[in-house]
Amino acid sequence: MRKRYMGPILLTLPVSILSLTGPAIEVVVGPYDATQRTWVLPKALLSYHSFFFRAACEHDFKERLENRVTLPEDIPEIFGLFVQWMYSEDCDIIKHCNYEDGVYNGVRAWVLGDKLRVRGFKNFALRQLHKLLIPLDGNEPLCHIEPIEIRYAYNNTLPESELQRFFLLATAAYWDCGHDKIKYLIKSEDWEDLWEEHRDFRNDLLRNLLSSREVRLARLRRVMGDFEIENKDVRS
Ligand SMILES: *[C@@H]1O[C@H](CO)[C@@H](O)[C@H](O)[C@H]1NC(C)=O
Repeated sequence: MRKRYMGPILLTLPVSILSLTGPAIEVVVGPYDATQRTWVLPKALLSYHSFFFRAACEHDFKERLENRVTLPEDIPEIFGLFVQWMYSEDCDIIKHCNYEDGVYNGVRAWVLGDKLRVRGFKNFALRQLHKLLIPLDGNEPLCHIEPIEIRYAYNNTLPESELQRFFLLATAAYWDCGHDKIKYLIKSEDWEDLWEEHRDFRNDLLRNLLSSREVRLARLRRVMGDFEIENKDVRS
């Protein structure tokens, strides 16, 4: 009888599976209270996706000594989405029964991806926002934009970030379109805080509103294409 070949098979496996081998590190996310969560994740998987974790695993003395990274200011649920995305290249940013949560999750996911320096996750989050707010068939958006989402985007990203640009163009495009979902948005009192905190947003919005609605909608539709081209295969 011929002997079965028992040589190494690892070489034929995809990188994503190979990166699940080797040592793990603890990632502790959230403030020190009942909501805090700890994940134990393969270092190779984290380093493969994130420059932040690559630095933490390879260079940061304290992290290497304790074999633990703590992220007290981040949100466990959003980090959970990132973990899901790392393993499957997909995750539940949009809960289908509740689109409104999808927008806030998407904003926070983008911000986390920016901090951890994971280009793929940022693009993923942006595509989800795009699905909710710019449906392909030209129908009205699936939900409205809340000032808190714009404030979060403006509080936590650098001026002129893709996320800021996305919200500016989306708000300008739908400002006077008359969809019920968007009208509701204008009545919300939180807008006053936004005007106060982020004058640059207010000024840019007013400047955009000088253009016709068709022009503003076209700008919004074009912006996603621009993001995709700029970011193609770039990890940052
Ligand atoms: C944005 O920052 C301001 C000022 O620091 C703060 O009062 C507000 O709660 C923040 N809002 C969000 C949504 O992060």
